[in-house]
Formats: sequence, C-alpha cells, structure tokens
Amino acid sequence: MPAHRSRPVRAITTAVGLVLVTAVVAGCTGGDDGGGGTTATGTAPPAGPSSSATSSAAPTDDPTDDPPEETVAPEPSETPAPGFDKTAMSIDDPASLWVVSDKLRPLQPSDYAPSDLVTIAVPSQNPPVFRAEAGQALLDLVAAGEAAGAGQFQVQSAYRSYATQVSVYGGWVQRLGQAQADIQSARPGYSEHQTGLVADISPIPLSCALQACFGDTPQGRWLAENAWRYGWLLRYPADKTAVTGFTYEPWHFRYVGVPLATEMHETGVTTLEEFFGLPAAPTYAG
Ligand code: DAL
Ligand code: ZN
Repeated sequence: MPAHRSRPVRAITTAVGLVLVTAVVAGCTGGDDGGGGTTATGTAPPAGPSSSATSSAAPTDDPTDDPPEETVAPEPSETPAPGFDKTAMSIDDPASLWVVSDKLRPLQPSDYAPSDLVTIAVPSQNPPVFRAEAGQALLDLVAAGEAAGAGQFQVQSAYRSYATQVSVYGGWVQRLGQAQADIQSARPGYSEHQTGLVADISPIPLSCALQACFGDTPQGRWLAENAWRYGWLLRYPADKTAVTGFTYEPWHFRYVGVPLATEMHETGVTTLEEFFGLPAAPTYAG
C-alpha cells in the first residue's frame, strides 16, 4: 500500500466573503509496485474546529488574528518511487518465478521437479500440467484471448520432467542430428518446461503447431501482444536467437508473473538474459 501523508492547508478567505475551509491534501507516494509517483489531491472533510474559522470581509489574512504559525520543515513534494527491483526474486532457484534457464544456466539440480504441480482444465495435446500459479494464469490467459475474439487455444506441451526431456530431445537428435536439435530443443536439465512455468500453445482447430507460422495466426498474434498482461513472456523472439540460443518459438510462453512481464513490456526488453544483464547464451558451454 502506498504511504499516505496529510498536510493541512491554511484557510483562505476570498474578497467576496466566501471561505474555503481548511482542506487536507493527501499526498500518495507510490510503493514498489511500479504504480507510484502520482499524487492524488482532493478536499477532505474539515480537519477540526480551526478549519471552520471565517473572516467576513478582509481580502487578505490579518496576521494578528492568526495563531502563531508553526515552523514546518519543507516537505519534498514527491518521494521518488523506487525503481523495479531486479533482485526481488532469485534467477537461480528453479522454484523461483524468475528463474533463468538457458544454455549457460542449467537448472540446479538438473533433475529438479516442482512440488506444486496441478493439472488444469484446458484443451490439450499432452497433459496440461503446471505449477499452481502458472496454471491459473494460463486459464486466465486463454479465457481473455477467447473473450477478445482471438479464437480458441489449446496446450500443446506444458510441464516436462527431466526424463521426459531426455525422450523429447533424444527424438529430435535422432531426426535432425544434434546441431539442428540444439537450436530448437533444450537438453535435459536445461529446459524451461521442467520448471512447470511453460506452455506451448496451439490453435483450435490445430494448425501451425510448434511452427513459426503460429505467430501469424489470430491466436499467435493475440498472445504476442497481450500475454504480458497475464504474466507470460514470449521467451524465444525471432530477433533474439543469438541471445536465447533457440530459434523463434511464437508458441512457447514462459510464466514470470505480472510484475516482471509488465516491466519487460514497458521497458521493451524482450529476453530474460538482457533484462537481468546475463550473458547471451547461443551455445552450451560444454
Ligand atoms: N523448445 C524449448 C527450447 C525447450 O525444449 O525447452
Ligand atoms: Zn516450449
């Protein structure tokens, strides 16, 4: 909650005898939620007996009628709102909503599994399993997109355990070879899917599933524009493959929570690596 401050304003008597009662100006100084920096002003009820004092005709205050004024130290008109705190949550802990996993930052431990996985009620190609907060946020996202007329959505892939990623990544290596697999599928222990904070999303009816053309579907366009409002980040943008190490994945959305997603949107920073000042991760270290 913002901190509120009240400051009495002296009564002013107008030349026509109207009296403005003492008002209270409430100065609201923003907290750390990014919404601060504004000052709400308004007229509050009279602050006390002295506020109803009137002067019938004098156009200006008569100093002799006034009680001695207190010496009040000048107040700053505004306390600067603190900036977004990039250290508020861990980027290393795999259970943190802000964890950054990329080719230089394996999940630790590599076989991490979340403790609060839930299965949500959403159309899906694979079990729609998420960490609890992300699952609710996914439901909110899909409901908003459908209400906005973007069409219907389904989950293509959500939580994947270390063992599942062994199978998924191994399948791509068999089909494409390791070099091609490595630019589109994370090695086991490096995949965000293992955090339970990721949704690969496809349209209903199914088309462009896990393909770049998903970005040109109504669903893909709506997500790219609006997912941040619900705490989701398009994690692998087309122009940031050198930073993320992965090709454009317009279907892969990572839940980071509304405050971080909003800050990234407002500052125009599109990758977690750039936002947190981490090295680009185009390739694995080993
Ligand atoms: N396709 C993404 C990079 C993953 O495998 O996690
Ligand atoms: Zn994905």
